[in-house]
Formats: sequence, C-alpha cells, structure tokens
Amino acid sequence: MWWKNATVYQIYPASFKDSNGDGIGDIPGIHSQLDYIQSLGVDAIWLCPIYDSPQHDMGYDVSNYEAIYPPYGTVEDVEKLIAACHARGLRILMDLVVNHTSDEHAWFQESRSSLSSPKRDWYIWRPPRLDAAGQRRPPNNWRSCFGGSAWAWDEATGEYYLHLFAAQQPDLNWENPATRAAIYAAALEFWLRKGIDGFRVDTANTYSKHTSFPDAPVSNPAHEYQYASPLFCNGPRIHDYLREMAAILKKYNAMTVGELPLTPNPADVLAYVSAQESQLDMVFQFDIVELGTGPDMRYHTTPRNWTLPDLKARVQATQALMDGTTDGWSTAFLENHDQGRSISRWGCETTPSLWSASAKLLCILVTTLSGTLFLYQGQEIGMVNAPLSWDIDTEYKDVESKNYYAFVRASSSSSSSSSALAAAKSALQHLARDHARLPMQWDGTPHAGFTVPDATPWMRAHDNHPDINVKRQTLDAHSVLSFWKKMLSIRKAYPDVFARGVFAHVDPEDERLFMFEKRGEGRRVLVVLNFRDEVQEVRLEGLLGGRYELLVSNNVEIGEGEGMSMHVLQPYEARVYLV
Ligand code: GLC
Ligand code: CA
Repeated sequence: MWWKNATVYQIYPASFKDSNGDGIGDIPGIHSQLDYIQSLGVDAIWLCPIYDSPQHDMGYDVSNYEAIYPPYGTVEDVEKLIAACHARGLRILMDLVVNHTSDEHAWFQESRSSLSSPKRDWYIWRPPRLDAAGQRRPPNNWRSCFGGSAWAWDEATGEYYLHLFAAQQPDLNWENPATRAAIYAAALEFWLRKGIDGFRVDTANTYSKHTSFPDAPVSNPAHEYQYASPLFCNGPRIHDYLREMAAILKKYNAMTVGELPLTPNPADVLAYVSAQESQLDMVFQFDIVELGTGPDMRYHTTPRNWTLPDLKARVQATQALMDGTTDGWSTAFLENHDQGRSISRWGCETTPSLWSASAKLLCILVTTLSGTLFLYQGQEIGMVNAPLSWDIDTEYKDVESKNYYAFVRASSSSSSSSSALAAAKSALQHLARDHARLPMQWDGTPHAGFTVPDATPWMRAHDNHPDINVKRQTLDAHSVLSFWKKMLSIRKAYPDVFARGVFAHVDPEDERLFMFEKRGEGRRVLVVLNFRDEVQEVRLEGLLGGRYELLVSNNVEIGEGEGMSMHVLQPYEARVYLV
C-alpha cells in the first residue's frame, strides 16, 4: 500500500498558478509547477474539483463530471497532467463530489422538469408542510451547512428539494440504485479509466439520509432553522453505499480518503476505515480543525478560545485509531481549503521570528504524527490568513463566509449591529475558508507571481507576499520551506516511528508544552513543542534515558550545537529527539 508512508500535496486549482493571464489558476499552471511540487518530497497530489461547474461553491457544485471547467482547461489537459505525474512517479488524486450535484447538472434539470420525470427520484423531493396559519413551510426544520433552510422550493412542480449545502447544490438520492449506478459511471469510472490513483471523497458520510426526515432538536429557539448535522451524518445505509463504491474502486486499485465530519467517536470512525470493512482507506477527522469553532454556527465564536490540553486531546483522538490494536488507518493534517491557516490559528504572526518558529513548530507537530500526511498548498511556506483590515464584502468570496456575514447583518438590530458585525468579522478573519484560497505566493512581484502583473486575480494576493514567497524561501537554507523539505525527508527515513508509530502523551494537562512520544520498531522519538511565545524550562532527562540524539530542532543555534541549553526552550521552540 503506497499510501501509508506517503505525503499528499493538496492543490486548490483556482489559486495555485495561472498560465494564461485570466487571473484564475488552471491545469497547465499546475503542470508547469511539477518540479516545485516534487522538490518538496511529496508522493502524490490531490486536486480540488476541476469539473465543469457554475462555481457557486468553487466546483463542489458539479454540472458535468466528465468535463472540465473551461477556465481550468480541458479533459486533454488533465490526461497530460496524469501522464506527467506518473512519468515522475507522482500519484494523482481527484475530488469526488457525489453527495450532491449542481442544480445545472443535466440530471437535476431533468429531475425538476416534472413530477413524472424518470429522474424525479434521483434527487430528494418532498411536499411542503403547512403551518397553523396554512402557510407552506419546508418539510422539516433543518438548517443547511451554509445557512438558511436545507430545502428549496420549486414553484414549477410544487415541491421542495433537499440541499445540505447551497440551494444550487441539490442532494442526490442514493436510495435509488439507478442513481448510484450513474454516479459510479460518470464520477468514478470515467476518471479511473484515465488512470487516476484515487479520490478524496467529499462529505463521505452524508449520502444516506433518514428518509422520514425528522425535525432536528431546537437548539436555538430564536432561529427558524436548526443545526441538524447529527441527523444527516452517518445515516442508516451509509456503510452499504461505501462498500458498494469501494468494490468499484478496488477494480482499479484506487485509494480513497473520505471527509468525515461530525464523527467524534473513534469507534464510529473505525467503522469506516477498518481494513476489514473495505469502505474507505482513510479519513479526514475534524477534531483538530474544529478546535475553536462555534458549536451551533461555525463562525459564532471568538478567535483563539482554545487551550493546549484541548488541542492535545484532539490530536490523540486520531492517533488512537492507529495504536497498533486496530486495523484502521487515518490522516495527519492541519490545513485544507476549508480552514484558516494553521499559523494564524495555533501559531504566532506578531514578529517574523515568531512566525518562522511557530510555522516550523506546527510543521514538526504534523510531520511526526501517524497517518497519511496531507500538506496544503502554501502551508510549506508559512502562508497566513488575510489581515483584519481586508473588507469582508469586497475581498472574501466564499459562499459560507458571505452567507454568514449577511445573516448576522440581517438578524442583528441596528443598535447591536456594529458589535455583532465586528464579532462576525473577527471570527471570519480567523476561521473563514477564504484564507486558504488566497493566491499561492510564488515571488515578490505583483499578485505574488500567481498571475501576470496586469491581470486581476480572482482573489487578492496577500499583502505580505514580498516577504513570504517560494522564491525567497528556496534560496534560504533556514526558511520554513527548507524546514518542510527536511522534515518530509526525516519522516521518510523513520517511517516506523513517524508515519505509523504509536502515539503517547507525556503530560496531557500541561498548558504550556506539548510533549509526546512516538514508538516505532526498537526505537522511539520524543517530540517537545513550546506552544508559548515565552521561554520555558523543561526537564527532559527522565524522558530521554541514557542514549539519545537530537534529530531536529527549529532553533538554528541548537541545531548547530551553539549556545544550546537542553533545559530552556525558546518561544515556539520545537525539538525531536530520537531515543
Ligand atoms: C466539503 C468541501 C467543501 C464544500 C462542501 C460541499 O466540505 O471540502 O469545500 O463546500 O464539501 O461540497
Ligand atoms: Ca488561467
């Protein structure tokens, strides 16, 4: 299994590299950077959706699985990219978005055309409910993941359709075997036959719904629609569907990594990833990336309201799946296209040296964890969130951010609105999905070298790109980029401890230091992370025993053996000892 010790580099096509000056990243742009990608030491790439789409949710609303969104390129461009990756020994994964399609997909167009359409049942249609006043209401009180009712009214046929995400993303009806067969043919086999190596499976646990569509408990009486995710995640037939899909993937020896929201219980996760179950090879658990998000609404929170023990417990939740007693497998990651940048969330941006130290500390954290490692574009150069000074209305593009901001604006009275909007802005500046979607920072030229100087990029490049960019860091042996390359090669050299070792906390309650051990075959490592911007004292002798070696440190002086004090950790200092 090639993927157990592998590192996968995630690419957000719109923001990676623009090859033709229209301000939108594209497939030829990705192709042109394969040398760079390979220089990192990764084994595979994962492309976020590139299928044809009206882009209400950046391609997670697919209007044709067998065509490419024209600004990204053509099917032929993808065939060339697959061949170029394979010629270099890089694998290539695509995104599989099959919980829903776009409302512009031909299947939905047909489905909505009449009550008797042969494809009516390919989506989830329900008649209205009537309230006490005889007014038409949605079939239940579910809130969609992007706000508002999860049901949209269709005037022409007099029914509602379900959309767990935007109204332009109607949910497919997986209960219907003909629908499933069509999904497998168009979304899976069309691309598997072209030689892709697997899929990242979008919202992998939402396909099976409770067909009675019960109301969600009223957690927020002031709101019309309620948080309903527990009712639509991990539904009654989900494991049957995934097993059926896995049988097809198996014919092509394709690997899968499923997105697994709202599944905090390890036993429930194991039901998806246990090798014996043959459903998904691994999953993205949400424990870590959800730290600090609002429980009812993701952005209804204040930045940095997390504690280190909380972070540790969430790291452990995934690591525990790979403790040697199960046949399960999972992933290690801190970033993706749906999250704020990790340095902005858990590191420090106040000075260049703390930025650099904390970027490397987070690099050590994630590269020493068990599971298949996922690295998100720009993470390797320490990209950070857009600044607070950026205007939400003009600079943020994501449907989720926009809807939330509009919701807060609409639901706060004029007297409370400025403070409510300021709170929403501060949460969005911390957690919005937009931050990960800023153009990749290639160099210090206008638009960070993502596109030509006179183009208008689809999202503004970060103001800090003259300081934080690939070109500058490539030349610097002590840069964040050089550190990532080093850590990826160390991870490769000790796969038994890093990629699949057994994780154990040293002191899970310690509020200042995150220390853990990874046990491999006849050796172990001790990872020491100072999560504070101040100097800390630490006693390591008892943990290290007699024979040990400092494998890596983010403190250059220590790495070179100068001025080292084993007992003093500098702000955001991070070390890995081999014992
Ligand atoms: C997943 C994707 C996200 C998308 C959603 C709906 O969570 O990662 O970007 O908006 O699914 O498809
Ligand atoms: Ca382009």
